[in-house]
Amino acid sequence: MDDYRYLVDFDTKNIETCFFDVIIIGSGIAGVYTALETPPEYEIAILTKETIEISNSVLAQGGIAVSLDKGDSPELHFKDTIYAGAGLCNEESVWVLVSEAAKQIEKLFDYGVNFDRRSPGELEFGREAAHSKNRIIHAGDSTGKEVLDKLISVVKSKNNIKIKERTFVIDLLTDNGEARGVIAYDEDSSKMVIYLAHVVVCATGGFGQIYENTTNPEVATGDGACLAYRAGAELMDLEFIQFHPTVLYHPENDSFLISEAVRGEGAVLRNIEGERFMPRYHEMAELAPRDVVSRSIFMEMKKTNSTHVYLDITFKDRDYLEHRFPNIFRTCLNYGIDMSRDYIPVAPAEHYCMGGIRTDIYGRTNIKGFYACGEAACNGIHGANRLASNSLLEGLVFGSKIGLQITSVVEESRNGIPEYSVRYSTDRVRKDIAKKAIRNDVRRIMTEYTGIIRNKEGLTHAKQKIQQYREFLKNMRNTEMEDWELQNMVLLSSLVINSALEREESRGAHYRSDFSKTDDENWKKHIIIKKGENT
Ligand code: SIN
Repeated sequence: MDDYRYLVDFDTKNIETCFFDVIIIGSGIAGVYTALETPPEYEIAILTKETIEISNSVLAQGGIAVSLDKGDSPELHFKDTIYAGAGLCNEESVWVLVSEAAKQIEKLFDYGVNFDRRSPGELEFGREAAHSKNRIIHAGDSTGKEVLDKLISVVKSKNNIKIKERTFVIDLLTDNGEARGVIAYDEDSSKMVIYLAHVVVCATGGFGQIYENTTNPEVATGDGACLAYRAGAELMDLEFIQFHPTVLYHPENDSFLISEAVRGEGAVLRNIEGERFMPRYHEMAELAPRDVVSRSIFMEMKKTNSTHVYLDITFKDRDYLEHRFPNIFRTCLNYGIDMSRDYIPVAPAEHYCMGGIRTDIYGRTNIKGFYACGEAACNGIHGANRLASNSLLEGLVFGSKIGLQITSVVEESRNGIPEYSVRYSTDRVRKDIAKKAIRNDVRRIMTEYTGIIRNKEGLTHAKQKIQQYREFLKNMRNTEMEDWELQNMVLLSSLVINSALEREESRGAHYRSDFSKTDDENWKKHIIIKKGENT
């Protein structure tokens, strides 16, 4: 389907324009760390949709995987990542991730990040699913918050970095296949702003909001992947959506994560009848790769006709749990669940998108000057299923890669900017539609037909429904955030469905009940999506 190039009509002559060397979209770990790794002589703007404190990274509980303990090594971390990735990881990217991990963690120490220690000189290493060693460094069960709090306070102290909050980036501006900046909406002034730059980095995180239940914050509507797609960037591996196995199941909260680290400490999963079931599904039981655990829970829920299962860590004493998992302990208690005595009701929920904007190991996309890192990007490190606690690390390692090469990119394009003028106008019309209802319907369709288990019939039905919305919304005049988000959610849903239909096998997080085997003979390595080619 031929979508419009930009979500809005505009004429650069009539819009306030600012100039920076580097624009970073998104304020999670990938965005903030890229800014810190960029040489201080460059002017940087971090544009963030909400406040800088709101991102997926802040919510990360478990920790950061790094092979620093005795008996561990980057080679073992590499092996575990490849195993979880179910044959689809890019080995070069994975090696960069695991071999550069320690260097980036050193920098976090320098920034004052405090990780838990077993003694003053020794880090404490936790265990998570599919890791063969204890290698998760953590700050209680609020690791993302500890890391981001420290990094954000450093970013705020830098004169060369401006933070623009409540700024919705609508589209990437390009000229002759090169990134020139972005068009954004400033909520505080209710005005459009053009940001021109030599380099644009997309670090907008994932798109969990296209599902009904997700651990992602409300901002995760896939705006980054969609602006990249509209500008002609390639997207890859979109069919691989990770569902976290254990998300609190409670009438007042169904998005709160119960970290995998709880299973790492020995918690077991029980079905609604109290029976432990994971050993029936996988030899690693509760510590099997995440896709296996989520699917097993899903099947057990179906079998027992229930909406959830239970996580049982009642064999640990209260003081220990309160100390090791303060956030989880407190939150459960708020809902009347004392995890030292009660089973915690849990169900899988969308958690992470393995796919995203296709990049190489330097964060480069196929558009010159346009980079991506973190969950928004896809350089093949996660393959078909991300290994637990590799995502904060991804933001650090590949954010750093982008920051370190910015000098050469900026210097190369310095003469080109700032001349840039575009007038873009279409025949779009005003439509008064029930946007909230469409949004909810999209999320329902994605959950029902493009969830943990898919098949051709369901995906085809979903494709038709979403396609109808896409057609209907195509010529709508988009004037506010609700419109841009809705357009992005519908577009992305349709791209995810197309990819899921195209992959006729089961692999990692993509499970097709009509092709239940992994097809190692005729399989498609990557499904790459590009505007105008396969959509
Ligand atoms: C968790 O704490 O279970 C989440 C860790 C992750 O997603 O890597």
